[in-house]
Amino acid sequence: MIPTAHIEVKEEGIIAKTVLMPGDPLRAKFIADTFLENVCKFNNVRNIFGYTGTYKGRKISVMASGMGMPSIGIYSYELFNFYGVENIIRIGSCGAYTTDLNLYDVILCTEAWSESSYAKVQSGYEYDTIAASLTLNSKLNKIAEDLGIKVHKNRIHSSDVFYRENFDEYKDIYTHHGCTCVEMESFALFHNANILGKKAACLLTVSDNLVTRELTTSEERQGAFTNMMKIALEMAE
Ligand code: HPA
Repeated sequence: MIPTAHIEVKEEGIIAKTVLMPGDPLRAKFIADTFLENVCKFNNVRNIFGYTGTYKGRKISVMASGMGMPSIGIYSYELFNFYGVENIIRIGSCGAYTTDLNLYDVILCTEAWSESSYAKVQSGYEYDTIAASLTLNSKLNKIAEDLGIKVHKNRIHSSDVFYRENFDEYKDIYTHHGCTCVEMESFALFHNANILGKKAACLLTVSDNLVTRELTTSEERQGAFTNMMKIALEMAE
């Protein structure tokens, strides 16, 4: 049934089968303005902008997820379950847990480890790790190779908490769980894809490094994440 509680679509079929999801609505707008043609804006609710357009003549949508698992949990569930979306590719930022990653490096997430209760509460899922779609990842990896963009294929940490009282906890998560970086959404996205029989993947660009404390500004981030965007946009069908 459309529209749903959080997405206000006026026409059937307006959302493409593949949706790119940055966290930030202004990044969704940047992608639509910079890379898409024949753009139509399909969502404004809560300023979670959603656009459909064509990339090299192929249809694709881009819609913001907001920050954190509760937020991407709502939007990805509605897109998959009510709007016929088959693939969601999150394109986000992450904080690096190691000096092996530099600012602006791109990571293709193989699996997300999390302390989150999202999947347990949602459907009784008992484990702390969820894999990305192998099908989407092998396509994204091939696209990155063809474009000559290096991607690190890594396990990542999906965290519910940005500001921890014990800053150094990340060292244990790196050492004991093998997560090279942290973001806040993929575990919930991958879970929704699995329970609904759909596909999800995640590309991340390093925006800060917890070891060196290097940071990027939000202005730099909005324009400088284009490598990750160009890889994901090639998934247009
Ligand atoms: N923590 C959580 N999420 C993030 C970070 C971080 O340091 N950087 C970018 N996304």
